[in-house]
Parts: sequence; structure tokens; C-alpha cells
Amino acid sequence: MAIELIHAEKTYGSITAVKDLSLTIPDNQITILIGPSGCGKTTTMKMINGLIPKTGGDIMINGVSVDEWDPIQLRRNIGYIIQEIGLFPHYTIFDNIAIVPRLLRWEEKRIKQRVLDLLDLVNLDPGEFTYKFPSQLSGGQRQRVGVARGLASDPDIVLMDEPFGAIDPINREKIQDSFLEIQKEIQKTIVFVTHDIHEAIKLGDNLAILDEGSLVQFDTTYNVVNNPETPLVEDLLGADRAFKGLALLRVKDYMKNDFLSLAKSTASEEALKQMELRQSKFAFIVDGRNRKLQGYVTVKSLKHRSAGSLEQLCKPTEAIQPFATLLDAMTKLFSMGLTTLPVVDDRGILIGVIGMKTILKQIEQMAVLGIEGD
Ligand SMILES: Nc1ncnc2c1ncn2[C@@H]1O[C@H](COP(=O)(O)OP(=O)(O)O)[C@@H](O)[C@H]1O
Ligand SMILES: [Mg+2]
Repeated sequence: MAIELIHAEKTYGSITAVKDLSLTIPDNQITILIGPSGCGKTTTMKMINGLIPKTGGDIMINGVSVDEWDPIQLRRNIGYIIQEIGLFPHYTIFDNIAIVPRLLRWEEKRIKQRVLDLLDLVNLDPGEFTYKFPSQLSGGQRQRVGVARGLASDPDIVLMDEPFGAIDPINREKIQDSFLEIQKEIQKTIVFVTHDIHEAIKLGDNLAILDEGSLVQFDTTYNVVNNPETPLVEDLLGADRAFKGLALLRVKDYMKNDFLSLAKSTASEEALKQMELRQSKFAFIVDGRNRKLQGYVTVKSLKHRSAGSLEQLCKPTEAIQPFATLLDAMTKLFSMGLTTLPVVDDRGILIGVIGMKTILKQIEQMAVLGIEGD
């Protein structure tokens, strides 16, 4: 469903919060609104969903002005996700997610099915979470509930206003990864506000940069990173622009499958044989039944202790998800002193590896393309 802002404007007395904003937001993609605090991001979002009236111009949702939409229909078609403050503390997780469907007077049976499906989608086990209260969840889990609630009525448009702003960096990275996986599945038209340029580059198909209520630049993320049009955009991107190019590339597009994985029940002599055959110094250990990653073993550790199964010798390892970026992967590799990182899907199943060599090759290539700029 298309969103089109046409010279949209919002004034509060003498303050112009949004000024002559014209922007066509592409369908089924993630468009980021980014800019300094007070530049009009939240005001823009609230005008799109009719929460506050505009004072000039127009905003068309699917070709119809927000002024002409039936407010209930507009609410059904536009999900709104904000920081965790949006959850009602005295409602269970179920009741929190069910708010809009109940407003829409869905049958209770349909609501129940929807809530369970959504919990599944955002990776919260319905058996564990359905009847808990928000205070019993971690910040990251609460935010997943917020995402589920925003999607409850299956809206075509989802507005997200700094949704992950209150989450610590490690969990934020995880929730960003699963958000991208969810979007791959649901393909909504998403407008996402952030003031974090890393988050913007990682999540956005398009970036709209705002300053003092006006649009400064609007383009695909790739084009903005390559061709910042004003000093403000350059500043926003920072001096390490080349490096940030890595944040445009997804692990899934660069991972390889030339790795050795062994079932944890494999006898260690057999494992050693296979590793020597493949001339591999290490192997990843998986559960023989479901291929879930268990950890890794090295030739060295096997030589020390020749008897027994791999399960006892297996050491835990960090892993990364396919929708993470090469920048995430590199950060992880550096911080752990590894050269190869296993890639697992959201169920923990080993699906590939990403190596430092692959990443360095990309940096080199980007430098050749001139992404490093001046
Ligand atoms: N209800 C209001 N009354 C007066 N001024 C407001 C109101 N809401 C927002 N503003 C002003 O409008 C500008 C844009 O605010 P906002 O959209 O919240 O910015 P952002 O979300 O980008 O931080 C700011 O200068 C803010 O002070
Ligand atoms: Mg805001």
C-alpha cells in the first residue's frame, strides 16, 4: 500500500515541525527516516497514521487522502510500533497483542490463532509467553511483543518509531536480524524512524534524511552512502564511510558451504580422519538429527584425547545469522579472534560459514569501486 506525502506540513504556532515534505514511500520496502532530534520524524509518522492533523499539503494512503479515510480502517491498515512503553503492564502478552483485533471485533477464535501465529513469527514460544505479563519479560522480549502487536491486524503499512532504541546493543543487533527475517516473510511497507546511522544502513532499503523539518536527501541506502548530497548527510555517515559499506552487505549473500561438519555422535578417530582428509584444522559439530550447531572441535584437541565422542570435546562457539551484515560478522570475528564464523538460521541450524578472507575481499572491492569516497 502506497504512502505519498505531498508538500506535507505541520506547524505548532510559530514552530514548523515539518516543512513542505514531499516523499513517495516505496511499497513493500523499509524506508528509514533519519535526522537529528527534533527534525520532525515523529511528527511525520503521526501525520501518516492520522494521529495528528497536518496543517498543510496532503498525505495519500493508497491514493486516498488521510482526511478521507475512515479512522478505524486507517488504524487497521497502519500498524504503529514504538518503544516498549507501548505495552500495558496489567495486560497479559496475549491481551496486549489482541488489542487492535478486539477493537476490530474479530471473533475470539480468530484472535487466538492470530496471537499464536504472531508469537511464533517474532520467535517467542507461545507455550512460555502467552500468559505472562510484560514485567516478566526482558527488554528485547517486550520489544518483540511490541512488534507482534503492531502486526496484529495484518496491516499493509507498519510505522516504527525508534522501536529498538531502548534495547542494549547486543540484543538490538539480534532483534534487528530477526526483524529483517520477518520482513522477508511479510513484505510490508515499513517506515522506520531511527537516529542511529548504523541501524539505518543495516535495515533500510531507502533513506530519507530530514533536518529542521525538511527533506535533505532521499534515495536508496546504497546511493546515499555512495553519494551524500550535502555536508549534513556526509557528517551523518561519518568519516568511516567505506567501512559502513560493509553494513550494506548481508552474510547470506557471501556465506560459503565449504566447511566440515560432523554429527556429535561421531567417534573421535573417525572425526580426525575426516579432518585430515579435508585438510581442515577444525570442524563444526552438529546434532545428527536436526543439524543444530553444537560447537566445534580442533584437530589439536582431538589428538590430545583420542578416545570418546565429539560431544565431550566440543567447545561452544559464537554464530551469526544470515541477515546480519558483513560489518556485524567482522566485528564478531575480531572480538573473538576467529577467522571463520558459523552461520545459523533462527532455529540454530548450521547453514554456512563466513570467513575473514571473504570480508577483506569485499573491502578491497569497495575501495576499487570508490565507495571509500574522497
Ligand atoms: N505538541 C507539540 N507542540 C509544540 N511543538 C511540538 C509538539 N510536538 C513536536 N513539537 C516540535 O516539533 C519539532 C519536531 O518534533 P518531533 O517530530 O517530535 O521530532 P523528532 O521525532 O525528529 O525528534 C520539535 O521542534 C518539537 O519541539
Ligand atoms: Mg521522535
